[in-house]
Amino acid sequence: QPIRLADYRPPDYLIDRVDLDIRLDRQATRVIARLKLRPNPQGKTGADLVLDGDGLRLKRLLLDGAPLDIHANFVTPDRLTIASPPHEPFSLEIETELNPAANTQLMGLYRSGSAYCTQCEAEGFRRITYFLDRPDVLSVYSVRLEAEQTDAPILLSNGNRTATAAIEGTSRHFAVWHDPFPKPCYLFALVGGDLGAIHDTFTTASGREVQLGIYVEHGKEPSAAYAMDALKRAMRWDEEVFGREYDLDVFNIVAVSDFNMGAMENKGLNVFNDKYILASPETATDTDYAQIEAVIAHEYFHNWTGNRITCRDWFQLCLKEGLTVFRDHEFSADMRSRAVRRIADVRTLRAQQFPEDAGPLAHNVRPDSYYEINNFYTATVYEKGAELIRMLKVLIGAKAFRAGMDLYFARYDGTAATVEQFIACFAEVSGRDLTQFSRWYSQSGTPLVEVEAHYDAAAQALTLDFRQSCKKTPGQDEKLPFVIPIELGLLSHDGKIFDLVTGPQDGASAHELATGVIELTEPRRRLTFHALPERPVVSLLRGFSAPISLCYAASEDDLIAQTAHDSDSFNRWQASQTYATRLLLRSVERIRAGGAAESDPRFIDALRHVLKASPADPAFAAQVLALPGEADIAREIGANVDPDAIFAARKALREAIGSGLADELRALYASLAEDGAYSPDAAAAGRRALRNAALDLYTAANPDGRTLAEAQFTHAPFMTDKIAGLGILALHAGAERERAFEAYYEFYKNEPLAIDKWFALQAAIPEAGALERIRALMTHPAFSLSNPNRARALIGAFAAGNQTQFNAPDGSGYDFVAAIVLQLDEKNPQVAARLLGAFKSWRALEPHRRGLAEAALRRVIAQNRLSPDVKDIVERSLN
Ligand code: ARG
Ligand code: ZN
Repeated sequence: QPIRLADYRPPDYLIDRVDLDIRLDRQATRVIARLKLRPNPQGKTGADLVLDGDGLRLKRLLLDGAPLDIHANFVTPDRLTIASPPHEPFSLEIETELNPAANTQLMGLYRSGSAYCTQCEAEGFRRITYFLDRPDVLSVYSVRLEAEQTDAPILLSNGNRTATAAIEGTSRHFAVWHDPFPKPCYLFALVGGDLGAIHDTFTTASGREVQLGIYVEHGKEPSAAYAMDALKRAMRWDEEVFGREYDLDVFNIVAVSDFNMGAMENKGLNVFNDKYILASPETATDTDYAQIEAVIAHEYFHNWTGNRITCRDWFQLCLKEGLTVFRDHEFSADMRSRAVRRIADVRTLRAQQFPEDAGPLAHNVRPDSYYEINNFYTATVYEKGAELIRMLKVLIGAKAFRAGMDLYFARYDGTAATVEQFIACFAEVSGRDLTQFSRWYSQSGTPLVEVEAHYDAAAQALTLDFRQSCKKTPGQDEKLPFVIPIELGLLSHDGKIFDLVTGPQDGASAHELATGVIELTEPRRRLTFHALPERPVVSLLRGFSAPISLCYAASEDDLIAQTAHDSDSFNRWQASQTYATRLLLRSVERIRAGGAAESDPRFIDALRHVLKASPADPAFAAQVLALPGEADIAREIGANVDPDAIFAARKALREAIGSGLADELRALYASLAEDGAYSPDAAAAGRRALRNAALDLYTAANPDGRTLAEAQFTHAPFMTDKIAGLGILALHAGAERERAFEAYYEFYKNEPLAIDKWFALQAAIPEAGALERIRALMTHPAFSLSNPNRARALIGAFAAGNQTQFNAPDGSGYDFVAAIVLQLDEKNPQVAARLLGAFKSWRALEPHRRGLAEAALRRVIAQNRLSPDVKDIVERSLN
């Protein structure tokens, strides 16, 4: 039976206080939980108390100090039921014993390297002690941690540290942590271990000093400096932009190398996958730096959007995640180039969320039901959830948006809230009815907006006809219309912008004309713009003002003009992508019909202009040069997809650019050469991105590019350029490539994060034989399936990033990934279920591959003893 939002009931009991006494031991950690409970006035009186557990071993149980028989049938590893508990406040003392060393799921208390650490979101706390493991039970925690001093000289938990001392006459010590802010148990964390650290301080706007610490493996301390810098910038930004100040005396972050996800926002003690902390110019790329900045900010921002105000239930996950992703996007936009960040964010949305919305795993931003909540930490909840917040801001304006946020913080601080409560704050401050906007949370699928333009030269009038629709998705056959803000501009072909407000206009409100944002609320809408002496170029969906797919038959002339002149930089980029996509789609058809790819000198010419203008904004130019990816093209095709034809079309276009613009690319590559110190700032990163994009395209058509790439790989002092060189070599079979991979391994063999890149690049080689290479790499001493980063680097990069070989026409890629998923499922179901997500678009494949992919999925579902995680994904995928 799935868990349904409609079945939500408040808990029958509340837990006001939690005192944990934890004695850390690798195989036998002892946990004593002392809970102060009381009946919830909002709950059912006299109900049984049912505490959640997951694989627990109960050692002792006391109710109001009196021992209960732990062998009675009300105790199982997964549940503890106390029939008719007292009607007054009462206490429970629960002792459990855990084996962190044997915890391969990486949920609850586990070992990573030489440290103890925890991951409790979503339902990991029940693997530590019996509890009401639901986010609407908020408690004040005190935690006493005890360990051998040599085993765990560092002992951390949430909140402020109130005591620490050696234990007389023993080799042990303890620390006590107290968190005054009531929190749900998913925000509990502890870390124990022998770790190095860097420390700093931050003075909040109101003048309180906060002690900051980032804990890493000994020797890695210098690599945490950038994360610390990003943290301080994030703390300041949240004060300035959202008026949010930090609230405890300490803020600690711990980096661990075994982590299922990116990072976790535990109150006052964030735990991170170390790939989002550690960075040095020699080991991290520009992209890594940007991601570290974003994830540090994301987890920090959760302190208000997630922790101070949490979620009533897991259906509301987007309440904290979508909002916090929006906040981290805004932060990155302010720290870097807003325009380039927007392009990158939309790329991610389209690459990850659009296929989800178009396939069997489609679900609402706020789901109605689930079998396994871990499978809902998705691009839909996170990325589309962030787009909805952004859209809300577009609809009500920046001022009302900020007022709504302020109201939300004031009204719901210290509570577990819902999406309705959040939206009501914005309705209240803006005076707008947001009922229709709420449909974005309860209808899945990507809306399609079709636009037709008609220019009447005699009347000097432009008519725009809009039509919105949304395909059916699992469980939702009929969709109601969405409110869709379309930011609009009208341009002349030489780039002049027509002012929307001049002249009488039909169908648009004054507000729409003033803001340039047209709101679609009905299935159809018609607008007419008058007094236009020439047919304008219509710039639609500027800044990607809504998460929709837009269908508009812009002429090629218009797209070329937009690529050169659109004053909206997102649409300048979009026009180039649209042009390239159309060209690629035609080529795919021709290739499938046995012909050759289409060549189009106009596109090459347009790119020549982009290169010429590139000194003004190298990062932007690099985004234009990064053509639509294979998966983007597949998504545009939508059905009967042949990944080989897509690859061939894209390869041909890359070669055409490389030969058509050989001189320009070569010159650009030379002109952007830099020597000197590395700086991770956006401008320097943009120059490197453009330079490497130029070399990549140049090498696509010019064999001497490989010599340049090899030289760059060999001599570049910093990772960005080194890995770019290797990535280019990886696309071209030959001795240079093999030499480079060997040299890279030798150079980086003691840097796990750099070795992850080594595995990932090889897994993505788009050649027959890739799978043999991967099989061989699985026997490499550096490979391990139980480290999530490593497993994702090799298997994930293949399944999600190597379109032709994962989709090899003999089915070998599907079989391989399915077999690994089954193998991994026994150890780490969450990571296994994620890998299985690679099949999310299987129905869009051409019939032969579709049959093979389905057969692989059927083999997975036929296994008994599947985890709920994998079972849920495979069942929904096949439905
Ligand atoms: N709340 C974390 C974040 O987005 C993600 C934790 C996900 N954990 C999980 N087991 N699904 O910052
Ligand atoms: Zn988050």
